[in-house]
Amino acid sequence: MVQKIKKRRYVIGNWKMNPQFPAEAKRIVDEVKKISKKLVRTSVVLLPPAAFLGQCLGTRGDTIYDVGVQNIFYEESGSYTGEISADMVKNLGCTYVLAGHSERRKMGETDVVVAKKLASALRAGLTTVVCVGENERDSQGAYLEPLREQIQKSLEGIVRKDLKNLIIAYEPVWAIGAKEAMTSALIYEMTIFIKKVLSDLFEQEDAVKVPILYGGSVNFRNAAEIISQGQVDGLLVGRESVNPPGFVELLKVVDEIQ
Ligand code: 13P
Repeated sequence: MVQKIKKRRYVIGNWKMNPQFPAEAKRIVDEVKKISKKLVRTSVVLLPPAAFLGQCLGTRGDTIYDVGVQNIFYEESGSYTGEISADMVKNLGCTYVLAGHSERRKMGETDVVVAKKLASALRAGLTTVVCVGENERDSQGAYLEPLREQIQKSLEGIVRKDLKNLIIAYEPVWAIGAKEAMTSALIYEMTIFIKKVLSDLFEQEDAVKVPILYGGSVNFRNAAEIISQGQVDGLLVGRESVNPPGFVELLKVVDEIQ
């Protein structure tokens, strides 16, 4: 009898504002669909631009990967031109949303707004990936306190029962879109730090269950080391998630880690 292994790793593909054509989106989805069926330890989540939700959700059949959006607005409905609500994406079949990605923070999204989006997404029943990370590092560790504060403020108002639908993605801003990822030794240090911050905010037994992902220049070559030595629960992948051969290989190597 084949034993069903509980999936315990996340690979989340943040497509950002890519690709340009629906047919390209479909091509990525088709490749993900094929490989997802073979994965035993890995949950795959696609975060396309809202324009391509149809391509990602439409042909999904039995659920082998999850789909979400890169952003929502925190109000439930009304006169908010250009915005999309948590309930809308939930009603389409999405199960995930990002909040607080550094590229949105750069456009003016504050911790207060991130906390409102998180609350709205959780209310709708969406698993929410809250992105945090320092802009730059220094040798004295001066980035740690602002990072703690960013986490605290972004999670403002969150209560124990919400934690089961929360994921933290640690994305050091300087490693996003860069040539190389952060070293896995440093990633390991930062996951411990983030777990400590969460344990100070919530009961430790609940806090340790919140998955911590790493994001920033992850590719099929460095993914396995980041998971196994960085001790993270998964990866938030940008560029490599819209490169089908690389993303398929990344999913294979991550899934093979015991
Ligand atoms: P890259 O993987 O392209 O560095 O992007 C990381 C990221 O921002 C994922 O959310």
